[in-house]
Amino acid sequence: MFEHFVQSVRDIYQTDGFIPLHEPRFLGNEKRYLNDVIDSTFVSSVGSYVGEFESKIADYCAARHAVATVNGTAALHIALLLAGVGPGDEVITQAVTFVATCNAIHYCGAEPVFVDVDVATLGLSPTALAEFLHRHAERRDHGVFNKTSGKRIAVCLPMHTFGHPCDMDGLLAVCADYGISLIEDAAEALGSRLSGRHCGTFGTLGVLSFNGNKIITTGGGGMILTDDDALAQQARHLTTTAKCAHAWHFAHDQIGYNYRMPNLNAALGLAQREQLPGFVECKRGLAARYRHWAEDNAVRMVCEPDGAESNYWLNALLLDDRAQRDAFLDCTHRHGVMTRPLWTLMPDLPMYSHCQHDGLVHSRWLAERLVNIPSSVVV
Ligand SMILES: Cc1ncc(COP(=O)(O)O)c(C=O)c1O
Repeated sequence: MFEHFVQSVRDIYQTDGFIPLHEPRFLGNEKRYLNDVIDSTFVSSVGSYVGEFESKIADYCAARHAVATVNGTAALHIALLLAGVGPGDEVITQAVTFVATCNAIHYCGAEPVFVDVDVATLGLSPTALAEFLHRHAERRDHGVFNKTSGKRIAVCLPMHTFGHPCDMDGLLAVCADYGISLIEDAAEALGSRLSGRHCGTFGTLGVLSFNGNKIITTGGGGMILTDDDALAQQARHLTTTAKCAHAWHFAHDQIGYNYRMPNLNAALGLAQREQLPGFVECKRGLAARYRHWAEDNAVRMVCEPDGAESNYWLNALLLDDRAQRDAFLDCTHRHGVMTRPLWTLMPDLPMYSHCQHDGLVHSRWLAERLVNIPSSVVV
C-alpha cells in the first residue's frame, strides 16, 4: 500500500527524482519585480513594493490593515505585545503547532499554556478551552487569572493547522465569556476561509507567514492583519524601530524593533500574490486527488472542516497507529518522497516541558498517527 502511495505521488508530480514536501513556485513576475527593486536601489524596508504588497494582501483577506514584517515569528511577537502580553503573563495556545508560536510568547516574557485540539480541525478546541477556563480561570479586577499558577491569562492564540480553519465561532464565544482577547496564528492559512471570512481576520489581530515553505513566499516574511486603526498604526511604529516621523530629525519614542519587511522581499511577494488564487485552486485540486487515493486505500485523510474552505497548505493522512506511521515514513523516505510526522508536541520540547497543559488527549492521538505528504503546487 505504501509503495502504491509512492507511485501515486510520482504520477502526480511526473518525476522519478526526489519529491520534497513543499517547494515554492516562481511562475510569474518575480524576476521582473526583483530587477525593478535592484534598479531602484531601494532594497531595504523603504520602497513602494512593501506598501503595495500590504494593500494587496489586505484586499485579498478583506482586512482593514496589513503590516508587513521580516517573518511570521516577528509578526506574532508584535501582535502579542500589542495585545498587552508582558512578563509574567500566560497565553493559551495549542500543543499542536510549530515552535515559533511558543517562542513568540516567550519573547514577550510570557509562558504558553497548552489546551487540546479537536481532531476535526487540528486547531484549538472550544470545548477543551471552556473546560480549562472553567477549571482554572478566575475573573479579577485586572483581568482573568489562572488560579493554579496565579498568572494573568492575557490572550488566547489558536493556530490554523496546515491551513484548516479552527472553530472560530466556538473559540470567540468562549473568549468573549471570559473577556480574553484572541489573536490568530494564521501563518499557514493564507487562502483559507471560514463561512467566507479569511483566517486571521476573526481575532483582534492575525498573523501570516511567507516563509519559503508557505503557499506564497517572500523568501522570509510575515504580515499582521487587523481591522483596528490604532493597533495597525502601533504595529507600523513598533516594526520600524519606533522612529518618530520627521523629514530629518532622528528620534525614537520607545524600544522598537527592526522588523519591517524589506522591499526586495515584498517585490517577490507581490509577484507571488498575483498567483495566489491559482495556487489555492491547484492545492485544492491536489487534495481532491489525495482524497480519492485515501478513499480507495481505506486511509483517513484530514479534510477541511464543515463550513471551511482550506488552502490545503500541507496535506495530511491519519494512519492506524505509531508503528504504521513509522513504516510509512521509512518507506516514503527510502523511495525519495519526502513525508513528515506531526511536530513534536510543544510540551515535549525541553523549553516548554514545564508549561501547564490539560492532558492533550487528542493532540497525543494525532501525534501518533499524522503524516504530512508532498503538497507543492503541481505544475
Ligand atoms: C504555525 C506557524 N506559526 C508561526 C510560523 C513562523 O513563521 P516564520 O517562519 O515566517 O517566522 C510558522 C512557519 O514558519 C508556522 O507554521
